[in-house]
This record gives sequence, C-alpha cells and structure tokens, in this order.
Amino acid sequence: MKPVKVGICGLGTVGGGTFNVLKRNAEEIARRAGRGIEVAQIATRHPNSKCDTGSTPITADIFDIVNNPEIDIVVELIGGYTAAKELVLKAIENGKHVVTANKALIAVHGNEIFAKAREKGVIVAFEASVAGGIPVIKAIREGLAGNRINWLAGIINGTGNFILTEMREKGRTFEDVLKEAQELGYAEADPTFDVEGIDAAHKLTILASIAFGIPLQFDKAYTEGIARLTTADVNYAEALGYRIKHLGVARRTEAGIELRVHPTLIPADRLIANVNGVMNAVMVNGDAVGSTLYYGAGAGMEPTASAVVADVVDVTRALTTDPNNRVPHLAFQPDSLSDHPILPITACESAYYLRIQAKDHPGVLAQVATILSERGINIESIMQKEAEVQDGLVPVILVTHRVVEQRIDDAIAALERLDDVVDKVVRIRVEQLN
Ligand code: HSE
Repeated sequence: MKPVKVGICGLGTVGGGTFNVLKRNAEEIARRAGRGIEVAQIATRHPNSKCDTGSTPITADIFDIVNNPEIDIVVELIGGYTAAKELVLKAIENGKHVVTANKALIAVHGNEIFAKAREKGVIVAFEASVAGGIPVIKAIREGLAGNRINWLAGIINGTGNFILTEMREKGRTFEDVLKEAQELGYAEADPTFDVEGIDAAHKLTILASIAFGIPLQFDKAYTEGIARLTTADVNYAEALGYRIKHLGVARRTEAGIELRVHPTLIPADRLIANVNGVMNAVMVNGDAVGSTLYYGAGAGMEPTASAVVADVVDVTRALTTDPNNRVPHLAFQPDSLSDHPILPITACESAYYLRIQAKDHPGVLAQVATILSERGINIESIMQKEAEVQDGLVPVILVTHRVVEQRIDDAIAALERLDDVVDKVVRIRVEQLN
C-alpha cells in the first residue's frame, strides 16, 4: 500500500520531535499503522538544528502544506490562535485530516473546528494538546467510555509544576526556574500562559468536555495562577501535611460543572502530590472504575511528539473508515452533548486553607471562630505560630471543611474588617482527592 503523506507545519520543539520520531521509528510505526507514514513536506521559517531533514521538501509558507494535493494529514504545530485556526480550517476545507498539539486552538475554537470537520468527513486529532505524552484523551474518550465520570483533577502544566518543584526542593527563585523552563522548551511562547493558569485552563476545558459530554467552554473556566504563592504558605502547608500543586479540577455536581484552575493543597501522601518537575498527572474518577491516575512527561520535544505521532497512526488506520463510525471528536455524539451549565467559582465547593495575619491579642482566635461558625464553616485544623510573632503580629493558619466558595468569600470579607486582622487573608483551596 502507498505510504500516507504527512505535512508538518512548524519545526520548533514539538515539530522537530515529531519529525525525528517519525523518522527514527518509521519501521515500527508502519507495522502498527499497516502502511508507511512519510513526511512529504515541512513548513518552517527556521531550520531546527536537532533535525536532519535531508531531502524532505521545505517551504516557508504553511499554506503550501494544506494546498499540497499529495498530503493526506496536516500536522499543525505552529501554536497560537489566528494563523493556526485559518490553517486548520483551510486543511479541513481541502479534505485533509488534521493532527494538532494546539490546546489554545481546540479550547477556544474547537466547537467550530469539529463542526466543520464533521461536515467534511475528516478527523481532527488532538491528543498532544493535553498533558504532553500522556494518552489521557484516549483513556477518557475510549478506555473509560463505560463510565459516568464524576470528577477529574490534574497537574496539567509542566512549566508550572517544574517551577513549584524547584522552588520547594532547591529554594530557587521563580524567575530563575522559569528561565530554565523556557530554555528547555517547556514554556509557552508567552510564559504568562503557564504561570497564570491559562494553559492549564485550556487543557482542563478539553478534558471536561470529553469527560462530561459538554461543548468546549474555555471562557467559563476559573483561572488563578501560581505567581502569588509564597514560601511561607508552601511551608505552612507542609507543616499541616499538605503539598501545594497547581491543579485543574472539573467536577460534575447536580447544579452544574465546576471548571477551575488554581493552586491547591493536596495531602502529601497522595500519589499526585508527589508528581514533580515537568511531569504531569491526571486523576479521573468514574462511577464504575473508581479513581484512576495517568502520569508522564507533560511537555518537551519527544514526549509531546509521542502523542502527535500516535494521532498520526490513529488517523492513518481510520482513513478508510466511514466517518459516521469514528470515535466522536469530543467522545460523545455531537447531537448528544449536554447543556449542563458551568458553575461560577462562587458556587463551587472546596475546603480552604486560610492564613490570617492577626495582632497577638487575647480573643482574636475567638473572633475568627465566631465569623466562620456564623457562616456554617467548620474548622478542620488550626495552627497559630507563636514562635513567629513579629511586630506584635502572628499568623493564624486554618483549614476548613468543604463549603461553597461564596461563604468563604463572605467570611474573608468579615475577617478583613476586624481591627485585629491586618493584611489580606490568604486563601488557597484544599482538595482531598479521595
Ligand atoms: N507549556 C506547556 C506546559 C507545554 O508547560 O505544560 C505543554 O503543553
């Protein structure tokens, strides 16, 4: 059988890795796909010193790839929204299948892209868009297809996890570690996407959609980054038996779906609390299977290429199948997507870590306890660091039971009005994940 012809758009970190893996493992991949897979053309403006492209035709114009009649599968690895969207829509228009690692594109424009792909009977595969090399999309979409998914929670930004780990383990500064993550090709072109949680929210939006059968709704995701975390809170969390991780959480409740990215305290003995460096991990809880955990490299040249190439193999195998009998893009049949609403963060439920900077007076703890109890907030543990009294101020640290966020907002506002409380109250959500 004739080899399948692939065009790679973008020869950066992931594009270079994809080219190298396709070339190095060509024989093994052909045995899996049932036919050879050949890179017929590459679009890039800059050579990649890590790739020996040999005689593979190279163009500077990405649209040469989608207009090349020889090419069956367009691999979009340029990133970003605008040009990538135009490229992908044009590829679909031209009847080509698409493989992309672009989470921003899928999270923001995926509904439109998939509708167009269905119209044209082509596949848009996006395994590499979430959690780098971990095949978590395939696991949820196919492996867990018998389950009603209750919740999922994941460390889904490698750069952020790398920064938190290096800061905690080696005491390195935020800026220093971020620079290294950029050099290693982990970080987004705009690294604020990593540290402010936007990249994780893109990925969470995709995971929630395929887990619960809802349209992609990135604009409704709550996003909070890691840049404001302090060493003090990292240390207090440890003293209470927790680790702080930047987590994406999607949970189905009767009222709606929680979709939130934020720093989170997790019990230190959970497996996911011990996922360090650039590694990612996603926990998925289904009614039949219980809790499952998927772990692996969340960013980087070849781990991400591993997912891109797996999609290319999947598309190759499905080339001759009836489009109506393929796995739906978002796991559920498109006319069966649910309109269960995404909840605002004030309606989400969590436990909370609070750090209150208080004057070291008798009765302060009583006032704090009264404010919380008046709002039905149960305290699970409390710690007052007498040894850390400075300028007559003492940090009071407590962890609450689960409560709807609006009540914590009200309590924090009341605490901040107390004469004996100085500074803003620090609030970090807590998840037990059991
Ligand atoms: N910037 C992303 C991360 C790359 O650090 O996880 C992989 O999506």
